[in-house]
Amino acid sequence: VEPPLVDSFGRRHNYLRISLTERCNLRCQYCMPAEGVPLSPRGALLSRDELLRLARVFVAAGVDKVRLTGGEPTLRADLADVVRGLREAGVRAVGMTTNGLVLTRRLPALQRAGLSALNVSLDSLRADRYERMARRPGLARVLAGVDLALQLGYSPVKINVVLMKGFNDDEISDFVEYTMDRDVEVRFIEFMPFSGNRWDDSKLVPYRAALAAARARHELAPAAARPHDTATLWRAAGARGAVGFISSMTQHFCSSCNRLRLTADGNLKVCLFGAAEVSLRDAARAGASDAALTGLVRAALRNKKARHAARTAEPRVWALAPRISFPWAPAAL
Ligand code: GTP
Ligand code: 5AD
Ligand code: SF4
Repeated sequence: VEPPLVDSFGRRHNYLRISLTERCNLRCQYCMPAEGVPLSPRGALLSRDELLRLARVFVAAGVDKVRLTGGEPTLRADLADVVRGLREAGVRAVGMTTNGLVLTRRLPALQRAGLSALNVSLDSLRADRYERMARRPGLARVLAGVDLALQLGYSPVKINVVLMKGFNDDEISDFVEYTMDRDVEVRFIEFMPFSGNRWDDSKLVPYRAALAAARARHELAPAAARPHDTATLWRAAGARGAVGFISSMTQHFCSSCNRLRLTADGNLKVCLFGAAEVSLRDAARAGASDAALTGLVRAALRNKKARHAARTAEPRVWALAPRISFPWAPAAL
């Protein structure tokens, strides 16, 4: 048995996020420009076989949870085969983060293939706003997708709400209300400045402010956290679901980080806010053995920082200097 993927700060990495495509069928303002992002040529992307081979290498080193992301992962035609392949490779939990547009059509097959958890991006409950944010219509389809996921037994369905001051922070109470009779976990996410997105950090709604807003119409009590969870959890009195806050900017959770990332073109990243460390695709295509690939991952992990500069922004600093700029912003989640 191989030793686990531990970095120089003793953090054990058992969670791999895999981006399946750079493409997306929405154009969310905070994520990409109206014309979309430049795409890598097809041959630069990992094929399913390449991806599953790398996954087996990670599993052998202790990775037992994978999250599929994008772009929009459902645009990948062979998505169900990827999910099945990951489960067959020994991944205990395969989750997906999706915009939810095509769930009503594709979720049953994905569930049969072994998809175990679902996070859905949903930034507004109002159709006109949704469309302004995503630059495409779709709210009704997303809500129907969430309903289907609940019917199929996903528990909870996590709903990602990126808060932007002046845009959707007046909907916080409505989102809390949405948790009353559904097994959902609505997570309010601090907007992270990306390189190139047209929002700036003055749009940030800090965790504390979001929590206060969430208490306007509901009584919230702390709920038990899960280890390695990005969200601080609360529950409204009498609610079936929960409310979470992901404070990537104002509070560090780097000290419990257990994540690695694989980009659609096969680069390994050890931190969301860092550059690509090594191309596992190139190494694999050049004939690297499994042991050599694991060696590359371990070497990259030795470079992982205790936390990234993005996390040094304490609430106090935010208050004093709310317009810091972020040269090290991530290019993708
Ligand atoms: P689970 O905990 O497995 O349900 O997933 P998740 O919440 O990590 O993943 P999801 O794709 O739903 O991401 C939700 C939000 O978490 C993102 O918008 C980010 O704000 C934040 N996030 C995800 N991964 C990281 C990370 O490595 N570092 C930081 N700081 N934030 C992250
Ligand atoms: N800041 C915070 N969260 C973001 N997401 C996308 N862009 C940003 C950003 N700039 C969220 C999406 C998706 C998750 C993977 O990341 O809402 O649910
Ligand atoms: Fe697509 Fe997700 Fe970006 Fe929205 S946030 S444009 S759904 S990748």
